Amino acid sequence: MTLPVAVLVSGSGSNLQAIIDRIEDGVLAARITAVVSNKAEAYALARAQNHGLATALLPHAAFPDRSAYDAALLAAVRDSGAEAVVLAGFMRLLGADFVAAYRDRILNIHPALLPGFPGLAAQGQAAGYGVTIAGATVHFVDEKMDNGPIVIQAAVPALPDDDAQSLGGRIMTLEHRIYPQAIHWLATGRLSIHGRKTRLAPADMPKADMADAMPCLVSPALEAGF
Ligand code: GAR
Repeated sequence: MTLPVAVLVSGSGSNLQAIIDRIEDGVLAARITAVVSNKAEAYALARAQNHGLATALLPHAAFPDRSAYDAALLAAVRDSGAEAVVLAGFMRLLGADFVAAYRDRILNIHPALLPGFPGLAAQGQAAGYGVTIAGATVHFVDEKMDNGPIVIQAAVPALPDDDAQSLGGRIMTLEHRIYPQAIHWLATGRLSIHGRKTRLAPADMPKADMADAMPCLVSPALEAGF
């Protein structure tokens, strides 16, 4: 059993690549039905094509308003056969109709320890604020920005000389591990939502080897292969 997922992108697609790689490794129980971008120049589209995945370009500027855009996006996702939606650097807020159509089946990754630093340029916000611990969050998507129940978070050190790029690089390394893991948990039916909280059903899985990882805290713990 693999979960059919649509991946929405706007940029480089390095998280998309990590998801593709774990699927191709045979550890992530999902298959990508379509990669949809709102930006023509998104390198994520080339990554998808390199792996023979279906792609669609839906530039939001081509639509008269948000609801028309959302309807087109929802149609593209539905027509692909997706049963869940993964936002991988998709820099648009989804409308209420879209969220309702895939309620509790949309995941997002955000490069900050939510609820800190929601919104744009989170890595730069964190570096500028002077936090000493930063990180990334995978969460379910609701109608509000970067708001839904949290699935997994990863924390890394933030250093005084960090800028958005250096801190963002450290965070990104862990984004590429926690996002495929979270999607796998969704795909295998191990996540349940209770108000603001997500529960992960336990499984008799070996934990990931973290020997090569930089200093970090990942919770819940990563499992082998991620
Ligand atoms: C990632 O850092 C992701 O967390 C962030 O955009 C980047 C996309 O990179 N998403 C957000 O900021 C969402 N609020 P990628 O295209 O290389 O995966």
